[in-house]
Amino acid sequence: MYAALKSIGSYVPSRVLSNFDLEKMVDTNNEWIVKRTGIKERRIASEDEATSDLGYKAALKAIERADIDKNEIDLIICATISPDYLAMPSTACMISAKLGLKDVMAFDISAACTGFVYLIALAKSFIESNTKKNILIIGAEKLSSITDYTDRTTCILFGDGAGAAIISATEDKNEAIVDVMASADGNYGDLLITPGCGSKNPIRKENLEQNLQYMKMKGNEVFKVAVKTLTSDVVAILEKNSLTSKDVDVFIPHQANYRIIEAVRTKLDFPVEKTALSVEKYGNTSSASIPMAMNDLYESGQIKKGDLMLLDAFGGGFTWGSALVRFAGN
Ligand code: UT7
Repeated sequence: MYAALKSIGSYVPSRVLSNFDLEKMVDTNNEWIVKRTGIKERRIASEDEATSDLGYKAALKAIERADIDKNEIDLIICATISPDYLAMPSTACMISAKLGLKDVMAFDISAACTGFVYLIALAKSFIESNTKKNILIIGAEKLSSITDYTDRTTCILFGDGAGAAIISATEDKNEAIVDVMASADGNYGDLLITPGCGSKNPIRKENLEQNLQYMKMKGNEVFKVAVKTLTSDVVAILEKNSLTSKDVDVFIPHQANYRIIEAVRTKLDFPVEKTALSVEKYGNTSSASIPMAMNDLYESGQIKKGDLMLLDAFGGGFTWGSALVRFAGN
């Protein structure tokens, strides 16, 4: 059996937080944000929308487009760093309940912005080992719930949203996900971290007073490793599969910063028109960024059945990975 990506879907909350709104909240300005990041606006979920609500709505679209009955789904995996609940139940379980599924394996993974590439690696293994047949994978984030809106170095970057895909078993090798490479190095953990509310710095008054529950990032240091790793990721997976950038129809890098995407794209010789760029309107949505970008390209007709997509991700951990995925949907 081979694993095939049969559909893509996404959901973004309706509320827009623009750079001009942020100018009123912290000491920043539109010009700085656009020049340093390429971001113009991001979406923010409402108070009563949890991560699973975003993931559920993205999942509905992916299920409908895959043309399967939801009851055929035998595994749900959600990648998120902003789960509905800190420990349990998992966001994947909450999504399964919203879908009305009562007997399906469901769990979350935490791989930060590389979450969607890790999901593809997992789904591929479950299918190739003949364990599961129709897997719903979801990258969903309500990053506004772990963003410090008094910290100008991070609050300008992040947004909320979700993307989902159905990965199904197929006997047709032409539809198969070609390859996934994923890795991590925890020695870089401190550079991009949510230090509080876990077992290390539990939910206590003194930790909350220091805002440890929010994301902290040494942006400049992360930037350098991100460019280097996102580039070497692509070189490695193309070489391993005896391909060049010319064989790739669509390049979908993690949407963290326009300057990072541009540096990687030019080094690797991907034309602009083949490169996903949605950071401008959504900001960085961590595990949701790649499937949201893929969804927008699909909806605008820029991804068609049979196209070879190259996904490229990097995030907290550090985690990183790339995937060569043929679009097997309609
Ligand atoms: O998704 C996971 C991976 N994440 C990333 O890949 C993010 C990687 N990092 C970045 O994208 C960039 O490092 C940032 C966009 C976060 C920052 O851009 P930068 O060009 O690295 O700026 P910087 O941190 O070196 O700061 C330059 C200056 C500083 O002032 P001084 O020291 O030069 O006077 C900052 O204090 O800009 C200042 N600054 C700001 N000014 C206006 C920092 N944030 C802001 C702000 N508005 N929001």
